[in-house]
Amino acid sequence: MDYQQEYDFENRIMDTHQIPEDSIEAETDNPLRPKTLEDYIGQDKVKENLKIYIEASMQRGEALDHVLLYGPPGLGKTTLSQIIANELGVNIRITSGPAIEKPGDLAALLTNLNQGDVLFIDEIHRLNRSVEEILYPAMEDFAIDIITGKGQMAASYHLPLPKFTLVGATTRAGQLTAPLRDRFGVVLRLELYSPEELSTIIERSAGILGISIDKDGALELASRSRGTPRIANRLLKRVRDFAQVLNNGNITLDIARTALDKMEIDELGLDQNDRRMLEAMIKFYNGGPVGIETLAAAIGEEAVTIEDVYEPYLMQIGFLQRTPRGRCVTAEGYRHLGFDFGGSNGQPTLF
Ligand code: ADE
Repeated sequence: MDYQQEYDFENRIMDTHQIPEDSIEAETDNPLRPKTLEDYIGQDKVKENLKIYIEASMQRGEALDHVLLYGPPGLGKTTLSQIIANELGVNIRITSGPAIEKPGDLAALLTNLNQGDVLFIDEIHRLNRSVEEILYPAMEDFAIDIITGKGQMAASYHLPLPKFTLVGATTRAGQLTAPLRDRFGVVLRLELYSPEELSTIIERSAGILGISIDKDGALELASRSRGTPRIANRLLKRVRDFAQVLNNGNITLDIARTALDKMEIDELGLDQNDRRMLEAMIKFYNGGPVGIETLAAAIGEEAVTIEDVYEPYLMQIGFLQRTPRGRCVTAEGYRHLGFDFGGSNGQPTLF
């Protein structure tokens, strides 16, 4: 899948993108993935509503309306789609926007579905136009029109489809075209997890993997996982290595701190990338406002990576603000990085 090729090997531990070890193929049987809504920790509002929609559609004997899941990467969108299928008692087909290259690829997927099945399309904002246009009638009328041949040999077929549920996932709902967005009956936004929720996820994962971790160790790891279960589970595996070599395999507060410090992940979960970006904003742009493209060029990063991966967490902890004129580092951000903040945003004290 091509989003794996964008993966940055130098900074993999805190990267919220999927990496080969947690790719869809490798993860379908991942024991850490909860299988039911009951086992899924956090996202309470999403879960509550989803539970009702699932139950109602089952009572009516109908397919669940199409569902759009959006929010930062690593929060469990794929997991949730598998849970939806599991709770509905139907099969799921998993694919992604960039993997569906031609209308024929989508037609093949759709015609192989059974009544009520779930089709999960990750990164649905990256579907190409010709594919997206087939998806509209498929979602709305459960039918597709396929044209074969050219000129006088051209023929059009109207193919009815089984009533299925499309679950689309995206990190950027704003990039979906209006016609696509409007065809989702259920739109759910996933939010970053609290340290307490992440701590529960870490303890659950540790139990499944047979890792010994105490409450303080779990909370320390959770506080440095930037609100993201994918990062929490990845850090758990790395901290286990330190615990195994240095502390008979037991993850305590001390070992968690030592391991995370060695990995240069600070008390709030910021890594070198976050610090590099905030420092560039402070040193080169007086803390902002600075435009996203300018910032991307200054730190040699893609604007979308800044928007999807760095910003959500930095905004959540109040280190970064988005304004109409650009991004600004807040007084808290200055302080955390050890800079003086002198007054209104973007006006640090000069020495
Ligand atoms: N693993 C990843 N996300 C999870 C969640 N929300 N609940 C439980 N385990 C998880």
